[in-house]
Amino acid sequence: MLVLGIETSCDDTAAAVVEDGGIVRSSVVSSQDSIHGRYGGIVPELASRRHIEAIIPVVEEALTAAGAGLKDIDGIAVTQGPGLVGSILVGLTFAKAVSLVTGIPFTGVNHIAAHPIAAFLKDTGNDAPSPCFPFVSLIASGGHTALLLIKDFNVYEVLGQTRDDAAGEAFDKVAKLLGLGYPGGTVIDALSKTGDPKSFPFTRPYIAKGSLDFSFSGIKTAAMNHVKTGVEKDDLNGFAASFQEAVVDVLVTKALWAVDASGAKDLVVAGGVACNSRLRERLIDAVDGAHIRLFIPHPRYCSDNAAMIAALGYAQLKKGSYGNLTMNAVPSATFRRGVFCE
Ligand code: KG4
Ligand code: ZN
Repeated sequence: MLVLGIETSCDDTAAAVVEDGGIVRSSVVSSQDSIHGRYGGIVPELASRRHIEAIIPVVEEALTAAGAGLKDIDGIAVTQGPGLVGSILVGLTFAKAVSLVTGIPFTGVNHIAAHPIAAFLKDTGNDAPSPCFPFVSLIASGGHTALLLIKDFNVYEVLGQTRDDAAGEAFDKVAKLLGLGYPGGTVIDALSKTGDPKSFPFTRPYIAKGSLDFSFSGIKTAAMNHVKTGVEKDDLNGFAASFQEAVVDVLVTKALWAVDASGAKDLVVAGGVACNSRLRERLIDAVDGAHIRLFIPHPRYCSDNAAMIAALGYAQLKKGSYGNLTMNAVPSATFRRGVFCE
């Protein structure tokens, strides 16, 4: 079964063709970083306008790269939310129109729930194992940071989530403060490689021992206070490394606490922040000898992409969960506590 995935929730226009929910036949991402970089963050109106220009060429490129035409596509999976409403509507409306004209069924996918499903994606020729349900997932992106116990596709228990900023948002805001541009995570990651993480003091916000919630606004304020005194100027790399290490410490510690508390054996780390080289390194060290199977998708499937949307959409379509023309965008994130199934 070939699913065409479409993702336009934020600032990347993405399309992918995925076979049987896992084999990536193509994945195309048109980044808007150069448009938003100068503003130090995403400008929603510019994002929607760019999606409108990019959506058709990006979908065509994904089909061509997969060696497929619309006649070969069995289902369309499109991000329904959460995200920027103007951005989501471009992809959603496009998917509805294609479905209406061609008769190909479509399904609306929750962007956050799709991030960890990236762990099931494989490029052709890669036969690495997939995680087994139930597994713990740390999702750390620009809009969300949460720990979920994932019991099946779209069946998850929220173990913890951020009470204020998302981890990626903290990277972006600190980078903006330092005048490093957007997205901040990539720049801070690069600078940190030659910085000493002990150069500047940053308190680790654990909230309480065993708490699986996060809070990153304090680290951001601490960074702001350092910057006010100008101390970071002498050692920008050390400053970036110290900030990054504080965020990574908290993410790694809480992910391990969550695995311990849940009794799960597999840990999936997903979302844009999972591209962070120090986080990846620390997680690999942390699970060494700990009887935890760690899954961190390739960075191209950690940051926003349409292959993860197609993978979760495949599971939904197989269950007969189809969208219809009255289906609306769901822009705001609703992570209710407790166990729930969509
Ligand atoms: O998942 P994603 O692509 O989009 C959202 O759903 O938000 O995540 C984007 C976030 C941004 O905040 C970006 O700064 C962060 O991921 N990010 C990183 C790295 N690469 C991207 N954060 C830390 N280190 C990185 N290497
Ligand atoms: Zn995302």
